[in-house]
Amino acid sequence: MDLVLVLVLILTCLLLLSHWKWSSKRGKLPPGPTPLPIIGNIHQINVKNVHQSFTNFSKIYGPVFTLYLGMKPTVVLYGYEAIKEALIGHGEEFNGRARIPIFDMVLKGGVAFSNGKAWKETRHFSFTTLRKLGMGQRSIENHIQEEARFLVEELKKTNGSPYDPTFILACVPCNVVCSIIFQNRFEYKDQDFVSLLEKLNENAKILSTLWVQVCNIFHVLIDYCPGNHNTLYKNFTCLQNYLLTKIKEHEKSLDVTNPRDFIDYFLIKEMQENRNPQSIYTRENLIGMLTDMFVGGTETIKAN
Ligand code: HEM
Repeated sequence: MDLVLVLVLILTCLLLLSHWKWSSKRGKLPPGPTPLPIIGNIHQINVKNVHQSFTNFSKIYGPVFTLYLGMKPTVVLYGYEAIKEALIGHGEEFNGRARIPIFDMVLKGGVAFSNGKAWKETRHFSFTTLRKLGMGQRSIENHIQEEARFLVEELKKTNGSPYDPTFILACVPCNVVCSIIFQNRFEYKDQDFVSLLEKLNENAKILSTLWVQVCNIFHVLIDYCPGNHNTLYKNFTCLQNYLLTKIKEHEKSLDVTNPRDFIDYFLIKEMQENRNPQSIYTRENLIGMLTDMFVGGTETIKAN
């Protein structure tokens, strides 16, 4: 038998085996279209109109169905009732966050992309600390109003002439977040600030590219392929190095009896818990939390 025939036979057996393994697993999952080996159902999803594809699947398989994104089974909840039943009716079971390989590359710890006990404790600390710093109370309103006054002053400088406010509108919420985590705001022309915001903006664009979705499905590409995910990594590293400098500055001027901001509250807890090997109060987790707030508090709110 020639070599090519042997290879074709081996390949066919492997494909059949992986298909059989999939089929036996699929029995336990909600219904969905039959996946192909390796690519799953990707060929059946219109990437330019994902929402419409999901609508079409829900008409055939109902409000809860399974799609294979590559080899990864993904259960889709379609419509208000299904989402409410899962997230409100079974909140405990559904409070996990799926692994997103592209974020695993850039984030260690934090709240937004963590899970289980670490997520619960980190979320509890963030929440109580933000409340101590005025979240949901009058004092945060003062920060917001102060920033609004800076915004108005900046807009006045345009003297009513046409002006693209996109950049400045990203600065405003970011400055409110900065006032909570570092206890200081930035001038809108501050070079460090401008450069950080440009990087966040570039990252938001990269995160919505098709390539990043492909990397999330076939994560082996992240380590071995060139592509814009490397720029994403570089930009996040810059932001996190900046945050690290801020943490070091805080360490030098820390007064444990008079915490000034989020970083101070964390450093105090870190000192109190330093004998606990399971502690969530690690440098990595602090950087993760600050990154969450920086990114979550800027890109979500600015005008697009
Ligand atoms: C209009 C503005 C915002 C929108 C639309 C938005 C949207 C979201 C969404 C959809 C989630 C995921 C919820 C989930 O899966 O359970 C989320 C989580 C999160 N957001 Fe926002 N967000 C906004 C503002 C902010 C701000 C200002 C911050 C920080 C200062 C922030 C920080 C976070 C964090 C830390 C999480 C993770 C929470 C957790 O895992 O418990 N977000 N946000």
